Amino acid sequence: MNNNKPYLINFPKIGAPSLGYISLAEKSNLPFTPKRIYWTYFTPEGVNRGGHSHFQLEQILVAVAGKITIITELKDGTKQEFFLDSPDVGLYIPKMCWRTMKYTHNAVQICIASIEYDEVDYIRDYNDFLNY
Ligand code: TYD
Repeated sequence: MNNNKPYLINFPKIGAPSLGYISLAEKSNLPFTPKRIYWTYFTPEGVNRGGHSHFQLEQILVAVAGKITIITELKDGTKQEFFLDSPDVGLYIPKMCWRTMKYTHNAVQICIASIEYDEVDYIRDYNDFLNY
């Protein structure tokens, strides 16, 4: 996979409608070794989250419940919109990628992150992102 741009990852989906499902992220289907996992929930509809880029952090976002709309922008100006509404699909977001997210109120987003939390890794000013 080209880890310079966002792409969707299809995780395994084990089970059946009669039983329910398990999806999993492991070495064979992850582009990095996770260092941190966090989750986002109860985001009011209409709120834009994100609004930042990262120097080093790579992430995979999964809508384990509800729906998430994500807009990504790379430094070359490439903008994409992604829609997550399935617990077996994740969005890979590379480093140096501006992103904003909107959630349905019932959405629960799991984030699989490549590095530990460090505010110094954030670029929170859009012009700084463009000019870096
Ligand atoms: P932020 O990454 O800006 O959230 P989002 O991209 O979802 O809008 O983080 C929001 C706040 O939470 C910010 O004050 C930093 C804090 N935070 C941590 O302390 N640890 C973490 O691992 C994360 C992801 C955020």
